[in-house]
Amino acid sequence: MNSMNTAAMPAQNVSEKVAKPVIDEKPETAVITEGSTVGQPFADDPKFKLRNVEVFYGENPAIKNISLDIGRNEVIAFIGPSGCGKSTFLRCLNRMNDSIDICRVKGSLMLDDQDIYDPKRDVVELRARVGMVFQKPNPFPKSIYDNVAYGPRIHGLANRKSDLDDIVENSLRKAGLWDEVKDRLDATATGMSGGQQQRLCIARAIAVSPEVILMDEPCSALDPIATAKVEELIAEMSESYTIVIVTHSMQQAARVSDRTAYFHLGHLVEVNDTDKVFTAPDHQLTESYITGRFG
Ligand SMILES: Nc1ncnc2c1ncn2[C@@H]1O[C@H](COP(=O)(O)OP(=O)(O)OP(=O)(O)O)[C@@H](O)[C@H]1O
Ligand SMILES: [Mg+2]
Repeated sequence: MNSMNTAAMPAQNVSEKVAKPVIDEKPETAVITEGSTVGQPFADDPKFKLRNVEVFYGENPAIKNISLDIGRNEVIAFIGPSGCGKSTFLRCLNRMNDSIDICRVKGSLMLDDQDIYDPKRDVVELRARVGMVFQKPNPFPKSIYDNVAYGPRIHGLANRKSDLDDIVENSLRKAGLWDEVKDRLDATATGMSGGQQQRLCIARAIAVSPEVILMDEPCSALDPIATAKVEELIAEMSESYTIVIVTHSMQQAARVSDRTAYFHLGHLVEVNDTDKVFTAPDHQLTESYITGRFG
């Protein structure tokens, strides 16, 4: 976890700290060489090894030759302007794009040296290993208990009711929700506050003992207090899981992530330690984005 906190640092100060400010009147015309990402896109102990990844929706390229490692137990943030491909790339990691008919994924995507796109791969098992939390909390219209118990039931993780009770309690504890809901586990989940619903969705993801948690703008529908709780949770979870978080909040990326990846028009422009990205980015486009020149 990085110790730097740029939360209180206005964009102005961030730009003043940049060693070599590059002012370009049209930053979006800055050169991006396909497949060449500046900074540190690779990791010593990768959980994911992603090479030459391309994604198309029909004929339209959305991801253009991206190579990246995601380290074991790393928190990596994906940032970049709307439409640059963050969600598309994230969804490749557990094959959520499979449900989009016109979507084609090319390249080599390995999870622990196993091919994610191997046609023989059990996608249900993959998604248990690589869980996902979405932008809008999406609890099932069931009880709080049944929401968390859903995955373990499908995957046969508990033979006895008492085992299932333990999984539900532990998952809710890890999601920081147990004390708030322990007396109303039978209440319907859709009656909870938005922040509680999002932590419930995190508990539901944790309940099947994933190795990786993908989060696509998990706090964008939450107020600052609920956001702080989810961010605390990310910090705690980072000890046991690999976490990939897409965010439009640069403060959030700075607070929660070890490395930050900057996407632009389907390219992966820069990956570096988060402190570096927000104080002395290597690429002009990254700098233009973090200083608010476009986005
Ligand atoms: N289901 C889809 N069908 C066709 N095109 C799509 C689909 N989903 C995304 N795209 C296109 O792929 C590109 C990347 O979109 P994506 O949603 O991955 O961007 P993003 O960085 O997550 O944006 P945002 O920050 O707005 O969520 C965009 O041009 C978008 O229009
Ligand atoms: Mg998105």
